[in-house]
Amino acid sequence: MSFDVELFKYICGAAEEFENGLATNPVVPPKKAIENLNIFDEAMPTEKTPALDVVKMLHEIGGPATTLSRSGRFFGFVVGGTLPVSVASSWLTSTWDQNATLTMLGYTAAKLEQVSRKWIVQMLGLPEDCGMGFVTGATMGAFTALSAARHKIYKNCGYDLKKGGLKKAPKIRFVISEDIHATNISALNYMGHGSDEMEFVAVNDQGLIIIDKMPALDAQTIVIIQAGNINSGAFDDFSKVCAIAKKAGAWVHVDGAFGGWIKVSKTRKHLAQGMELADSWSIDCHKWLNVPYDSAIAICRDRNAFMETFTISASYLLTDGERIPNNFTPELSRRARGIDVWAALKHLGKDGFGQMIDQCCDHALNFSKELEKIGFTIMNDVVINQVVFCLKDNDDQRLKRVMERVQEGGEAWFGPTKWQNRNVFRMSVSSHETTKQDLEVALGAIKKALTD
Ligand SMILES: Cc1ncc(COP(=O)(O)O)c(C=O)c1O
Repeated sequence: MSFDVELFKYICGAAEEFENGLATNPVVPPKKAIENLNIFDEAMPTEKTPALDVVKMLHEIGGPATTLSRSGRFFGFVVGGTLPVSVASSWLTSTWDQNATLTMLGYTAAKLEQVSRKWIVQMLGLPEDCGMGFVTGATMGAFTALSAARHKIYKNCGYDLKKGGLKKAPKIRFVISEDIHATNISALNYMGHGSDEMEFVAVNDQGLIIIDKMPALDAQTIVIIQAGNINSGAFDDFSKVCAIAKKAGAWVHVDGAFGGWIKVSKTRKHLAQGMELADSWSIDCHKWLNVPYDSAIAICRDRNAFMETFTISASYLLTDGERIPNNFTPELSRRARGIDVWAALKHLGKDGFGQMIDQCCDHALNFSKELEKIGFTIMNDVVINQVVFCLKDNDDQRLKRVMERVQEGGEAWFGPTKWQNRNVFRMSVSSHETTKQDLEVALGAIKKALTD
């Protein structure tokens, strides 16, 4: 089949239209556009539909119902954006239809995973020979790294989990920050561990683990702490926790879904001092590296722990190449997402990446100061890109009404959160798209909602 020029010309036009609307279109789709999605509810067609018609339908019906989380005016969750270079690389990679499982099935994918791995460990100051797997998100990053951690602990106990299973396995302890992101608990649940096995440690007013409250650790313990609290953006004291863990022979895992990248910032890298002393890390690429979904990395100081946990052997699976990509991830067949990671890193360079991160953090800090001027209290220390806020009069019901008005207006979007037992709101700046003008529009929307 020859290349369908018309189809891709059409898609270029559709993508351009979307891009042109990013700065001004409502960040939440109009109700009518969401209702129109019901047009998709048709019976499974019997006959073929021309590809161009399919894509037109997607653009015309699906396009208007997109949430502009990519926009510089979207401050909800921690969603990142997408750099044009990584959208383009993703598009080309999809055209290639590469499967990043074996070297032979994706030479370029295998090579660029290796290159990205090397660049990332150097950039973050992690041990040179760390193992790295390219997974779908930080949830799977935690699952991957924690599975390797558990494998290593059992191995040290002389226990083979793959043979004996969980029922007869030695007891393993999980010491976890009380304010850890919920997906780490989910990862442990997927691994077969319940909350009764988890020892939660109290946190301070920034959501940081209180080291004096940590129980005694031992060589059968995994400690989970974080680089970038989901609300405050704060960083646990890695040096202290790792020193205690090392003495006891315990394993430390760091959830650095977004904050893990702070080491590339020249002005804020000190916040993650000691992060390199941990044993494993999970970091999203679809957040602060601004590559398309779905993309994250799981990193493990002990490369062999990854390989022993995840290597899949079958008579037909080739074992060529310097590094077999599937030895580091739970999946066999896999999108070649490492290519987009390489493209973003190559495009930005270390300094450019650091500047992008600093720009987001500066925007968050400046915005927090503006919020204070118009009647808000900032509830966290704004150390990176996260701002938690409430009204000075502490009327959380009014805050909800004001922020819902902003959300409905579509000029900007801030998400609700629970912080210090209160229902408040949160801002996250994690896209390269956010400009000063976007902040002005967002502030204007809040001011208007306050007076309304
Ligand atoms: C700190 C933290 N950990 C883990 C996750 C889960 O990441 P993902 O949604 O990519 O699986 C998130 C997502 O917001 C996060 O902020």
